[in-house]
Parts: sequence; C-alpha cells; structure tokens
Amino acid sequence: MERKLATVLFVDLVGSTELVSTRDPEIVRRRVTSFFEHVSHCITTHGGIVEKFAGDAVMAAFGIPQAHEDDGERAVRAAAAIMDSVHGLALEARIGVESGEVVADESESTFATGEAVNIAARLQQAAAPGEILLGPHVCRLTEASIEVEARGSLDLRGLGEPTAVRRLVGLRDASGRAPSISAPFVGRDFELELLHTTFARVSRDRRAHLFTIFGEPGVGKSRLARQFVDGVEGATILAGRSLPYGEGITYWPLAEMVKLAAGITDDDPVHEAVSKLRACCGDDAVADLLGLAAGVLEAVETERSQQEIAWAAREWAAELASAQPLILVFEDIHWAEEPLLELVELLADRVKDAPLLIVCLARPELLDLRPGWGGGRIRATAIELEPLAVSESEELVDALLADRELSEAERRTLLEKTEGNPLYVEETVRMLLEGGTAAQRIPDTLQAMIAARIDRLPRVEKMLLQRASVVGRIFWEGAVAKLAPDIEELEPVLEDLLLRDFVLRENRSTISGEPAYRFKHVLIRDVAYSGLTKGARADLHQQVAGWLEERAGDELLEIRAYHLDLAAALLGELDGAPPAELAAEAAAALEAAGKRALAR
Ligand SMILES: Nc1ncnc2c1ncn2[C@@H]1O[C@H](COP(=O)(O)OP(=O)(O)OP(=O)(O)O)[C@@H](O)[C@H]1O
Ligand SMILES: [Mg+2]
Repeated sequence: MERKLATVLFVDLVGSTELVSTRDPEIVRRRVTSFFEHVSHCITTHGGIVEKFAGDAVMAAFGIPQAHEDDGERAVRAAAAIMDSVHGLALEARIGVESGEVVADESESTFATGEAVNIAARLQQAAAPGEILLGPHVCRLTEASIEVEARGSLDLRGLGEPTAVRRLVGLRDASGRAPSISAPFVGRDFELELLHTTFARVSRDRRAHLFTIFGEPGVGKSRLARQFVDGVEGATILAGRSLPYGEGITYWPLAEMVKLAAGITDDDPVHEAVSKLRACCGDDAVADLLGLAAGVLEAVETERSQQEIAWAAREWAAELASAQPLILVFEDIHWAEEPLLELVELLADRVKDAPLLIVCLARPELLDLRPGWGGGRIRATAIELEPLAVSESEELVDALLADRELSEAERRTLLEKTEGNPLYVEETVRMLLEGGTAAQRIPDTLQAMIAARIDRLPRVEKMLLQRASVVGRIFWEGAVAKLAPDIEELEPVLEDLLLRDFVLRENRSTISGEPAYRFKHVLIRDVAYSGLTKGARADLHQQVAGWLEERAGDELLEIRAYHLDLAAALLGELDGAPPAELAAEAAAALEAAGKRALAR
C-alpha cells in the first residue's frame, strides 16, 4: 500500500433511465457502450486510469500508479474532454473532481480510498447535467490553468462544515507555469552574460549555435530564458514548449513558433491560416509542410515524412534568420518526442551562413533518453542551472513577502526547506501568505512535482529511497540494508540514485566504518516518506532503532529514542494506543537520553 496525492474524477450519465425506457434497447446499449469508450479514451490519453464502473458511473484516478506533477490539471482537462465527447453523442453527463491524499494498492487492481474519493463522488451527484464541479484542493492545484466560478458550498463531509464548490467555466492555454506570485529577477549574472556573449558571436559569425540549459524542475530555466530574450534587441524571437501528454503533440513547439512568426491565431479559418503561412514563407512547398506540422492543414494524402518536415523547418529558419538574427527557444525538451529532437539537431547542424541561436531548456532526465544531447558539435554549449545562493534566496523571500513579517525561526526554516530553488521558495511563501506555517507541510504543488520524479524511478530505486527516508535526511548504508533486505545488491542501486541526483555521498559518517548518504534535497526525503503508509513507517522506525542499537550501542541513544518514540506515536494514532512493550522501550530510551543531556 502507498499514500499518494491523487486526483479523483467521477462521471455519470444523466437520465439514463429515461434513455432506457424510451428507446430501442439495442440503441441504448450502443449509446452507453460508446459513452464508456469515450470516457475511457479521454481518461487514458490524459494519463489517468479507470478505477471502476458502477452502473453508469465511472470513477477515474490521476496520479495512480504513476504520479505526474500536473495530475490535477490532467483530470480537469480530461473532464472537459469527456463533456465535449458526450455532447458529440447527444448525451449529458455530470462530473465531480477533487484532489487529496489517498491510499492505494500497488498491485494490479489499484483501488484508491480517501476523502478525495468521497468528495468527488458527492460533487458528481450535486452537479447539474453538463456541469463539472471542482473541490477546493483541485482548484488550488490548477488555479493557473483553469477558469472557475463559485457555485456556493456544500456539506460534503457530512460534518456540517461546508466545502467551497466551484464550477469549471473554461481552460486556459497550456502555456507553462503561470506564477501565482512573482518576484523581480535575482542572480544568474554569469549565465545571462554567457547567453548574451553567445548570441553576439552567433550574430557576428552568422552561424547556428545550440545552447542547452539543464536544471531541476523549478530552478529557473524558463525565467532565465525569458530574462535573456527580454534583453535582446534586433532579433526575431520565437518560443515553443513540448507538452508532457496529449494527441498530435510531436511538433507542438514548432507549431507555436510557426504560428507566431506568421501571425496565425487559433480562430483563423484554414484558408486564412494557409495564406498567412504562404506569405511568411518564400516557398509554398515549405509553407504547406509547416502547415501540416502545425496542424493547420490536415494531412491530405499519406503522412508526410519526418525528414520532409525537418527540411521545411530548416528552410524556414534559414530564411527568417537571413533577415535578422533568429532566436528559437525550445522549452521542456525532456518531454519532446524523437522527431522534434532530431529536428532541433538538424537545425543546429544544417543552418549555414545565418545567425541562429537555438536555446533548449531541459530537466536532467533528458539525458536518460538522449545521453549524447548536444554533444559532438563545435558550436554547442550546455550549462546546468544551480540553486540560488542563500543571499539570492533571501532577496527572493523579501520581495515575495512584501510587507508580511516573518519570525527569525520561520525565515530560517523557509530558507532551509527551499534550498535555493526559486519555485520552492515561491510556493512555500504562497502557503505562508495563505496562513500556513513554513514548518508545517509541503505545498501540494511541490509534493506533486517531487512525487512524480520519485515515481519515475525504477521500482527498486524507489523502494530504497522510501525506506532510507525513514532513517532521515542522512542515512547509513547498513541501516538501509536492514530495512530493505529484499534488495540483493545495494551498491548499484545507490550508485544509480547518486547518478540521478536524488542523494549525495557524505564525506564523514557519524558511525565509523558505516558509509553515509544524504538526500539531495530535504523535500525529496519528506515526499518519499509521505508515500509510506503510517503502518509501514512505524515498522521501519522500529527497525532503525534496532539497527542503531546493534551497530552503535548507546552512542546514538538520542536518535534511537527518537525512532522509537515516532513508532509508538504512529501506532498510537493507528490503533488507539501503542503496544505496551514498545511504549515502555521508547520511554526508557527517552529517559536515558534525557539523563544524558542533563549530565552534559
Ligand atoms: N532568478 C530568478 N529570480 C526570481 N524568480 C525566479 C528566478 N528563477 C526562477 N524564478 C521563479 O521561480 C519559478 C520557477 O522558475 P521556472 O518556471 O523558470 O523554472 P523551470 O526551471 O523552468 O522549471 P520547469 O522544469 O518546471 O520548467 C517561476 O515562478 C520563476 O518566476
Ligand atoms: Mg520551465
């Protein structure tokens, strides 16, 4: 069993009993079957799973078994897609969506339970035909990308305590992260300088250059790119972003660029779009191929080949760049599909005698798919964006807090927890401004983001990470060996986690002869821990205590007491009271630790 932040969607066919009584049963059967097919299709193309069918209702979950950082948004988009396709069938549906912590089985039959499940079901019942109702948590997670209106409040928990309900009105474009609060740009002087210098050389030499910026989620790749292009003059700047899921998204970033360059809007009728494209490209053949890639034109005959589209993109870019220097920003290429990556490399290699700077933004996992990205080129640069320095984080915190005062302790906790990641800083400050405390919990947005990273790990790596999280931010190899006896060889798994930047090796260990590791980020530790059930945590804490006693005797008594105490508290919470033996052991350890502290 696992604890997860998931989003649950319930959809029910409206008035199906009337449908049944007034129509030919064969018609009804076909209608209902195609309803289910459409619903399943919408759910799976958005990365969700169909959990169960009950009558005419379908329950779906997003975030199980694999979490994505945008599960909330996926669920809402799936809901909108379901509504559309149901209308296409001349049927009506009601939908309810809510996010929250659920408990799910890791086995084949994933089955989630949790408050979000009950709330989503109640919302679905409360919805009018054609309505999508959203609970407070899913709204909070998706607020940047959806439009909603208040729909009063309902007593959903049966506690007499009303929950705010919202109706989905519309979806905003998938334009990436729209920050809820935002600060002036800080730091990154060298990176900006390097970008400007590279651009100056590109313009001088009239050559193509590939510049890749790697960095962890939220570290500031997009913001840096924006800051750079805002400071550039006398260049054509086009940007596009790869999407994590969806249909027909292979050339999405190119499509965005082409439409922007040609001045095509989504409302343009096809002939209008085509004539704009042709006016913008010197060559009609190029225009038509780009029209295909951009989805402006439907593929008429057979699908045009990848090479042809790449050729057209090269002609197009070279022509634009011959007028004035061209900067193409490809965002999030870790989600790009192979044809797009090849197209980018082709642009870098084959655009000759024209000033073209290609800026690619990627999370490190791009290298899992493409270990040699950018390599083997004379004109290529790759940099890694590191976390902000402490002074820069402070600057960010001050700017974001505006006039809200923070205690010294709160401030320190905030800086420690966020470790120079500007997104973590923003999200944590936002939680503070909304009345939470820094020490309290992890903002849902970050939880979703980090959980998605952990879920993408191979099974054994994930298991090790979760078990290690029970030991603490710093953990010993021997302790993990004890907690994860089912892993035969620990070394390669730890190596892999080192390589993937989840953990670091500690230079010194508090237990001599026992190699120690540290979670790269405290939030990775916290999120890994939050995935374990409370029962599993209690059991593992006891095992850590046992290992400490064997390995270090009384030396680390305080830490042992801490683990026993936690185990007792968790079992107390689960069962009403901790087992007497454990309670006594924990009390004795705490007492001994206390005495030792007094004696010091
Ligand atoms: N140098 C900076 N100064 C001020 N704010 C910043 C800075 N860098 C990033 N931010 C803010 O932090 C948030 C996250 O940054 P950004 O979206 O650029 O991250 P990213 O690296 O592109 O992440 P992802 O991999 O998810 O795309 C944004 O809201 C951004 O405005
Ligand atoms: Mg980004």
